[in-house]
Amino acid sequence: MLKGKHIILGITGGIAAYKSATLLRLLVKQGAEVQVVITPSGKEFITPVTLSALSGRPVICDFFTANTGEWHSHVDLGLWADAMVIAPATACTIGKMAHGIADNMLVTTYLSAKAPVFIAPAMDLDMMAHPSTTANLALLRSYGNHIIEPTAGELASHLIGKGRMEEPERIADILSQFFARTLTLQGKKVLITAGPTYERIDPVRFIGNFSTGKMGYAMADAAADLGADVTVVSGPVSVVPRNSSVKVIPVESAKQMCEACTGVWPSTDIGIMCAAVADYAPASPLDKKIKREGHDVPTIELVKNPDIAATLGASKRPGQTLVGFALETDNEESNALSKLKSKNLDMIVLNSLRNPKAGFATDTNEVTMFHADGTRQHIATKPKTELAYDILNAIPL
Ligand code: CTP
Repeated sequence: MLKGKHIILGITGGIAAYKSATLLRLLVKQGAEVQVVITPSGKEFITPVTLSALSGRPVICDFFTANTGEWHSHVDLGLWADAMVIAPATACTIGKMAHGIADNMLVTTYLSAKAPVFIAPAMDLDMMAHPSTTANLALLRSYGNHIIEPTAGELASHLIGKGRMEEPERIADILSQFFARTLTLQGKKVLITAGPTYERIDPVRFIGNFSTGKMGYAMADAAADLGADVTVVSGPVSVVPRNSSVKVIPVESAKQMCEACTGVWPSTDIGIMCAAVADYAPASPLDKKIKREGHDVPTIELVKNPDIAATLGASKRPGQTLVGFALETDNEESNALSKLKSKNLDMIVLNSLRNPKAGFATDTNEVTMFHADGTRQHIATKPKTELAYDILNAIPL
C-alpha cells in the first residue's frame, strides 16, 4: 500500500527519536519515498547521517542550507507529500502545531501540508496527562489530524504510565491501512444520516432526542478524507462538516429525512445510518401554539414514522452496502442483532448507554460492530473522530 507514496517523516526532540530510524526503514522497505524533516532538538537525539543513509535523501532541518544558501520550500514539500507522519511528536511540537507557531521547518511544513497528517506523541506521563497537552491534541484532532495514541509502559524517566510512542511497526500498519481504505473508498458515493429528527407538536415545540450529530459528522469527514463523495442527510444540529467536500441536505422530521434518503439511495454505494430517528410523530401538528391557561392537559396522538434504514435495506441492490447504528439500554447484543437482520443491514454498530464516555453528545464512543456473516469487532473508548476510521475500515466492501 505504501509503494510509491511520498511520506514526510517529521522527527522531534524526544528519546523515542531512536525508533524513528526503524519506522523510516519500514516505510522505505514497503516502497515509500520518505523525506525526513527534523527539528533542531531532534538532531540531539538521532543523527541526520543515519536518517539520510536510510532514506536516501538529505535530511531537512533548516529553511536554508548554510553554505549554499539553497532554500528548502516547505510549500513544495507540503504539496509533494501523500502523508506526513510526526513520530515522535513532543509536547512542544504538538503545542506549536496546534497554535500555528511556525518557528521551524517541521511546523511550517505541517502548516503547508495538504495531505493527511499522523501524529505519534511521545512524552513523560505527567506531560501527557497535562490539560494543555490534552487540549492541544483535541485541537489537532478537530483540524482533521490523526493522533496515534501513545501506549502505557516504562518511560525514559523509568516511571510507568501513558506516553510511550506507538511502536514503529504499528505506525507503518496504520499508514498502510489508511491508504488501503483510500483505495476502496475513492470516488464511492456515501450517504450518511446524522443528528436527531424533530417532530413538530406545534410551531414552538417538538418531540426530539439528545443526538448532536457528532458521530455522523465524524463519519462524514472521515469518509470524505478517504476520497469518498459524501452526502449527509442531517437533522437539526449545530455541528458542521470539517471537510468542505461533504454535501449536507438539512431536514427536520423523520418523514423529510426518509424522502431525502430514498432520493439519494439509488445512486449510493454505501449507506451509513447514524441518525437518531424519532420513531413516532404527532398525528396532527397544530399551527397555533398550545396554550396553558384555560385548557386541559393536552393529549398528543402519535403515528409511526417511516423506518429509513429498513426502507433502504428493502430496496438494497447487489453492490450496495448498508450500515446501521444501535443505541440500546438493555439486551444490547440481541437487540442489535435483530435490527441487523430485520433492516437487511450488512453491519450494525452498537453503542451502549452504560458507558458515560459513549453515546449522545460525548466526544468519545465505545462500540461493538456486528457483521451479517456473524463476525464482530469491539473498539474501546476513543474520540469519535478516530473511531470513524475504525468503523469505515470494518465495513464489508
Ligand atoms: N432508524 C431509521 N429510521 C427509524 C428508526 C431507526 O433509519 N425510524 C435507523 C437508525 O438510524 C439506526 C438503526 O435504524 O441506524 C437503529 O435505530 P434504533 O433507534 O436503535 O432502532 P429502532 O428500529 O428505532 O428500534 P427501537 O427504537 O425500538 O430500539
